[in-house]
Amino acid sequence: MSNSSNVQWGGRFAQGPSAIMQAINASVGFDRKMWRQDIRGSLAHAAMLAHVGIIAAADEMAIRQGLEKIASQIEAGEFEWSEALEDVHMNIEARLTEAIGEAGKRLHTGRSRNDQVALDVRLWVRDSIDGLSEQLRDVMRALVARAAEHAGTVMPGFTHLQPAQPTTFGHHLLAYVEMLSRDLSRLADCRARLNESPLGAAALCGTGFPIDRHMTAAALGFAGPTRNSLDSVASRDFAAEFLFCAAMLSTHLSRFAEEVVIWTNPYFGFIKLSDAFTTGSSIMPQKRNPDAAELIRGKTGRVFGALTGMLTVMKGLALTYFKDMQEDKEGIFDAAETLTLTLAATAGMVRDLQPNVARLAEAAGAGFSTATDLADWLVRELKLPFRDAHHITGKLVARAEALGTDLASLSLAEMQAVEPGITQAVFGVLTVTASVSSRTSFGGTAPANVARMAAEWQERLAR
Ligand code: ARG
Repeated sequence: MSNSSNVQWGGRFAQGPSAIMQAINASVGFDRKMWRQDIRGSLAHAAMLAHVGIIAAADEMAIRQGLEKIASQIEAGEFEWSEALEDVHMNIEARLTEAIGEAGKRLHTGRSRNDQVALDVRLWVRDSIDGLSEQLRDVMRALVARAAEHAGTVMPGFTHLQPAQPTTFGHHLLAYVEMLSRDLSRLADCRARLNESPLGAAALCGTGFPIDRHMTAAALGFAGPTRNSLDSVASRDFAAEFLFCAAMLSTHLSRFAEEVVIWTNPYFGFIKLSDAFTTGSSIMPQKRNPDAAELIRGKTGRVFGALTGMLTVMKGLALTYFKDMQEDKEGIFDAAETLTLTLAATAGMVRDLQPNVARLAEAAGAGFSTATDLADWLVRELKLPFRDAHHITGKLVARAEALGTDLASLSLAEMQAVEPGITQAVFGVLTVTASVSSRTSFGGTAPANVARMAAEWQERLAR
């Protein structure tokens, strides 16, 4: 049992909390990550208090200098965090008062920890969105550069992980660029929606002090103040939305990582990763494992967990604030920090990987991958209905399979035995190159399309 009550709120308490109360209550162990946001918010609040005449200009100056000094102490690792002071907000405020006296005690006028924490979390998420968006653009740039380089590098396109139709390596990479560009715009939407300042909602009902919430909102880069004080301290949907964006982005990175795992498998042999992005085995000397890819895939679990955790924390809460909401932070921090790592690792792998062009070409032609081109030829040249063409092609595939050869190696006589109308010209569409080059429909896999799309992306991502 600690014998001194909390200096910030202990007025009515004769005794301090039990050790276990302090342990379960304290968040400073993790929420000190928001110290920059907390100080930014307090500086804006103090400037506003002075501007409207709630505190004296001299007090504001003392507060500003005190907070700046605290910021440099924290930065330098010289700040002593105290669990007894619960959280980042009270640690900083208590130290401020210790340093500057009376003026420090005036900072919390017209404000509560409830709007303060809502503000700090919003600022933290907003900063994090900005950083992650920049990283996301870097991954996209890496993918686009490789796509431009391999616009014409043929590879098998899959459905069900079975050979389907030939595509190009560049087209495949640009598919991820499209997915990631939606993640980028989702983050931008989330940022726009969260960009309202809850500061000044105070405990839950606003305040009688003549504060200027528009001023603090503008000073902190928000579009404006939130419009309902209860909602301001009670809501964390911005955090859940951020975590959904994070979860969706992680899903995309995980799918790419899964492909890297498949492609580096020697039975596929589609790409090679260098020593920089692989690890060996302590017992099997021949091994080269794509651990970075596996971890990018594996770490999606914790991001999904953060989203589920956030929604679960909120779902049973009446309005407005409950201490449950202190549990919002660790998931947010962990998801953001996980993505910082997985985005960087993805960018690194994309720049590192070397496609085996010959192997990809060989695989692109395997598995009767140009069967659709044959069926399309029958429709175009012999005016057969597509369903009949599909059936005839199926028979030709079966014939080739029985002979242990591919479609292009069947003789004309063999083909004509199945469909007498087939001519020598059919062989022109059965190569992989002919197949990909023919797919010029908008968004299709033709190398000319891919090169154009890559160039377009290069321009969009340049600054
Ligand atoms: N550490 C708290 C949190 O993260 C700050 C808000 C505390 N508010 C309160 N009324 N006890 O939620």
